[in-house]
Amino acid sequence: MKDKLQRARLFEQKYHPNLSKFDQPRFHVTGGIGWINDPNGFSVYQGEYHLFYQYYPYDTKWGPMHWGHVKTSDFIRWNRLPCALAPEESYDKDGCFSGGAIELPDGRHLLMYTGVRNKRRSNGVVDGYQTQCLAVGDGTNYKKYEGNPVLDAKDLPEGGSPIDFRDPKIWFEDGKYWAVIGNRPADGSGSILLFESENGFQWKFSSVLSSCHNQYGKMWECPDFFELDGKHVLLTSPQNMTSMGLEFHPGNSTLCIIGRYDRDRRHLLRDNTQAIDYGTDFYATQSLLSLDGRRIMIAWMQSWESSGCKLKGLPFCGQMTLPRELSIRDGRLIQNPVREIEAYRSTKVSYRNVMISDETNLQGVFGRFLDMTVTVRPSNREHMYRYFKIFVAKDGERVTMIRHKPENNTIRVDRSRSGFPHDIVNVRDFPIASHNELKLRLIMDRYSLELFVNDGEQSASFVLYTPVSADSISFSCDGAAIIDVEKYDIEV
Ligand code: FRU
Repeated sequence: MKDKLQRARLFEQKYHPNLSKFDQPRFHVTGGIGWINDPNGFSVYQGEYHLFYQYYPYDTKWGPMHWGHVKTSDFIRWNRLPCALAPEESYDKDGCFSGGAIELPDGRHLLMYTGVRNKRRSNGVVDGYQTQCLAVGDGTNYKKYEGNPVLDAKDLPEGGSPIDFRDPKIWFEDGKYWAVIGNRPADGSGSILLFESENGFQWKFSSVLSSCHNQYGKMWECPDFFELDGKHVLLTSPQNMTSMGLEFHPGNSTLCIIGRYDRDRRHLLRDNTQAIDYGTDFYATQSLLSLDGRRIMIAWMQSWESSGCKLKGLPFCGQMTLPRELSIRDGRLIQNPVREIEAYRSTKVSYRNVMISDETNLQGVFGRFLDMTVTVRPSNREHMYRYFKIFVAKDGERVTMIRHKPENNTIRVDRSRSGFPHDIVNVRDFPIASHNELKLRLIMDRYSLELFVNDGEQSASFVLYTPVSADSISFSCDGAAIIDVEKYDIEV
């Protein structure tokens, strides 16, 4: 084993056995120790689901990127595996950046990732040259391919930047391997390139699948491309986005393009675009097709903008979202928590037709590890309420608020008082569709809140650092609403 990989594994062996379960979420993936960002290599391998991630084991901040590794059979209970890749070859010495994975017909697990190699210009500026590399393994140990890199600057279309050429996502279709990779074209924004391979090892450029043309941010990172409910979907995470009304948020944002795939030109024709998630903490999605045929997506539940913001003393920084089942309804991307979470529900508490006007607590409705659905109806359709609010992660000082404002049909989540010792973006507003009733599903797991609106029409993900003792939940309404509540604790 090479030195850096061995060092990372020894470090893990020292610290992993001592992880306190009181620091960690129960069912969301973290690195255990150290820093994580993007999910990588989310794939089925020998009947289990493997997830790798951008990882720096030695500190709770970003550093030379390794690939950490976990696996699961149900997306809820994860087993830690040793660090899979470390940056130590000439072509990846400055980082093993994001990528994908696939099971080969001969039973080996193929990882495709971006190798980064920094070069200093005469004026001192450092450029990270990015190439695509492979590693092959058995689900625990991976060996980098002797033919690395398999794609580099000479494989790019004219004008493509070798400094922004990263994040391959690989799949097999029609007898071939395919990979989508983000690149910066001559217009300075982003594009998603398609590459093809007969055997997974020799690759060539195929087409420009989709281009940003400076419309949706700049460089497009972490692409994923798949068929879903008769459409084709491209997910990507643009840098330097500016908001468009309430649809996207500035900075590192997310973009879902739903369209039709022109197989002759190998080009995606756009029907609709939308943000993927409307919370403060969501970036860099990756998906797989589950053994029973569901498209399951996971993402990094954090944002680059607030990535330095963490709780002092926590051994890890960064978590993944709960994996989500994707579908398309009325031309929009629908996301719902994986159904496997239902097997971990306990202590059901339910209420029907409770009238809410003043702030109300309901007996048994509290907690920080939960799956709770609240269905809201106005008490009188002629007199719509002005605001309906749910307060969670609450004690005398701290609270996180979810608010529905029917006047412009928006949801606001405000986590200004959620335990962060940092001045960061704490409030998000997003538009929702009108229905006879509003359905809000909340998944909470110690340090997070994921909100799913109207059976997955919108999702919004938030990191909360509120102490776990702040577990009170209450409801209030400016006007009057009738609610149903179904709440379960999640025990893993
Ligand atoms: C996205 C990203 C990727 C890159 C990785 C580096 O969050 O910037 O484009 O591969 O993180 O850690």
